[in-house]
Parts: sequence; structure tokens; C-alpha cells
Amino acid sequence: MKDIARRITRIPSSLDRLGWKGVLVAIWQSLTNSVRHWAWDVWHGVETRHQVALKQLGLDGSSYSQPPEQYVTPGWNGDYSSSASWKFPERLKRLNLDWRLYTYVDLGAGKGKTLFLAAQLPFIKVIGVELSHKLVTIARKNIQTQRNFNLKCKDIDVVEADATAYEFPSTPLVIYCFNSFPEPIMRLVLENLRQSLQENPREIYMIYTHPALESVISEYDFLTVIDSSGGDGSRGGHRSYRAVLPVNAN
Ligand SMILES: C[S@@+](CC[C@H](N)C(=O)[O-])C[C@H]1O[C@@H](n2cnc3c(N)ncnc32)[C@H](O)[C@@H]1O
Repeated sequence: MKDIARRITRIPSSLDRLGWKGVLVAIWQSLTNSVRHWAWDVWHGVETRHQVALKQLGLDGSSYSQPPEQYVTPGWNGDYSSSASWKFPERLKRLNLDWRLYTYVDLGAGKGKTLFLAAQLPFIKVIGVELSHKLVTIARKNIQTQRNFNLKCKDIDVVEADATAYEFPSTPLVIYCFNSFPEPIMRLVLENLRQSLQENPREIYMIYTHPALESVISEYDFLTVIDSSGGDGSRGGHRSYRAVLPVNAN
């Protein structure tokens, strides 16, 4: 209900942009999406649907690996919200990989929703990396209570860590990121990934939902877009990348 109330308070500012018809369509979509998130949680015995505002994530400087000012940038919304269970699996499956060779890593895993969705494919391991202790606790509880999944991967883990300092597994990787970071942090995450690829060349794919920083990613020549939906930085859209070191990178 709180999520719906928050959306209703945004109506006046949306009116200018969308007009009445657009606002009514947006309200209808918001209501149906809330019902879908609720039904998914109830059926699977988990709680992933309630948004958590950045201020409520319990992030005091102690969990940061970088200077605190890098974690907030003007206009960036660091709230927790979950991926859509009706969009994510299709984006993942479109990579069309031999999943048994890959580890799945959600950078900014929140309450762990995509971990359960990914674990329905036979990944070696499914890992969530999350900065907020509060969300890590909820994600671990969800792992205990989850039901009604056809899990092909039973090895699901949540790591409490800052993605900028995370040491990636040495296997081929499918990385997921749902608009988790402001620009300075995203740059450090990409540098961390590039370094991991340089030290240990292997197949790495990355799916980026709500690609607000796609122009930043385009500066990194080791990432090539292989799949996309939605317009520039669109809320509901995504970009999928394949990571390949340029020939002269070593
Ligand atoms: C939009 S939520 C996405 C949740 C989840 N990936 C999903 O799709 O359901 C982004 C998450 O990134 C986390 N986050 C932000 N900065 C982080 C960092 N530096 N390291 C790890 N997690 C981070 C936030 O706490 C939040 O839970």
C-alpha cells in the first residue's frame, strides 16, 4: 500500500509529462504490477515486493569501500525495488548459454528476487552481492522460506559486500545489475570487472535493467551490446552486454 501511496503523490508532476490519459494508463500499470509482485511473493513464500527508500537501507559509512560521497549523486535514486518476474527470465534466457558452465552474480541483489529466478536454470552457483545488511538479512530469510520453485541450481548464496570490492568467481559469469549504482560506483564496478577479465580471461555477460548509465558503459570498450529493449535509459528496458577484451588490452 505504501508503494501505491508513494506513486499517487507523484501524479501532479506526471500530469505535465503524460497528460490525463497517460497518467491513467500509468496508474493502471502500477496497480497491475503491484498485484503481480504481491502474487509472486505469496506463492513463493518470500517478501521481495516492498520498496525500501535509500534512507531506510541502513547504510552508514561502515559498509562503504569508497569515500561516502561517491555513493550519492544528484538525481540518482538509490531506493531498493525488485525486478519484474515477468521480464527478467526472458532477458536472461535470451543469452542462450550453456548455463552449467556459468555462475550467476546479481550486483546489488536486494532481497534476492532474481536469485530464485536465475536458479531455475542449472547455473554452477547463484550469488547475490548486497551492501545493505538489512536487505541481506531479508534475502537470507527468503532463501530459507522460498517454495514452489523448480530450482535447477540449489547453491544460492548472498554475500554482504560492496560491489566495488567484490572478487568475482573464476568461472564464466552472467552478471546482473538493476540500476544499482550511481555513476562513480558504476565506474569502479566496471574497472573491477575489467581487471578480473584481464587476470582471468573467460566468458562474461552482463544484463543491465533500467540502463540509466548506458552512456557511461559505452565508454568501456570491453563491453559490447548484444541485446536490448526500451529506449535510452528507459525505466522498463534493458541492455545485455558481452565482455571481450580488446586485442591490444594485455
Ligand atoms: C534496484 S535494487 C535491485 C535489487 C535486485 N537486483 C532485483 O533486481 O530485484 C539495487 C540494489 O543495489 C544495492 N546496492 C547499491 N549500491 C551497492 C554496492 N555498492 N554494492 C552492493 N550493492 C549495492 C542496493 O542496496 C539495492 O538493494
